[in-house]
Amino acid sequence: MAKSGLKSSSDVENTKFMVAKEAANLIKDGMIVGLGSGSTANLFIRELGRRVVEEELSIFGIPTSFESRMYAIQYGIPLVSLDEYGEIDIAIDGADEVDKKTLYLIKGGGGCHTREKIIDYCAKEFMVIVDENKIVDSLGDKTPVPLEVLPFAYSSVLNELLKRDTAPSIRMADRKMGPVITDNGNMIIDVFIELKNPEETEKELNNIPGVIENGIFTKVDKVLVGSPKKVITLKK
Ligand code: A5P
Repeated sequence: MAKSGLKSSSDVENTKFMVAKEAANLIKDGMIVGLGSGSTANLFIRELGRRVVEEELSIFGIPTSFESRMYAIQYGIPLVSLDEYGEIDIAIDGADEVDKKTLYLIKGGGGCHTREKIIDYCAKEFMVIVDENKIVDSLGDKTPVPLEVLPFAYSSVLNELLKRDTAPSIRMADRKMGPVITDNGNMIIDVFIELKNPEETEKELNNIPGVIENGIFTKVDKVLVGSPKKVITLKK
């Protein structure tokens, strides 16, 4: 992987597309596919939709957010719900950071990590698609870990997080007054937390009453990493 990383935004966009297309080409007839969220997953959904329409690929998708649902409908992917089809063959999703040794992730930059984790963790295979800028040596140094929090509990959760010295901040909306509200009607609190043992921290954060889910993902099967000329696969 290039140490320098992708510099121009068109390099990043082309690379995301390359990796999304490669993932879409792995999907086979008859599969139930978890559809991730974020700009890279949206490109995957677009490519998969193209295959459904042009190649008559017969699949069903299960979206991880309102946005991925909208994209899937727009691009012609038939959808089912998790309660109808609990057996997901593969989930394809983006990430905000990927630890290159352990393949642990931080997700939730778009506030969708709760539904993403539900779908990604129950898939038989969970494959992540990223450009090389997302690969890090040390998880969480630059990207905060998001927690989805029940609005009723935001002040008690904040107090708990302050005790743990995690610099918590409520994620505020950009073009609306007040906090970001997730697809599930909850708030997001971002924390900077040392991730010496991400598996433990993943469990520990969810133990705070009022925290619904956090953005540390530790059950990943494969990561497709795109650089300008090629896509490589990282496996555990
Ligand atoms: C959504 O909440 C996130 O988990 C996304 O999967 C993650 O932020 C990656 O998004 P991009 O592909 O847009 O970088």
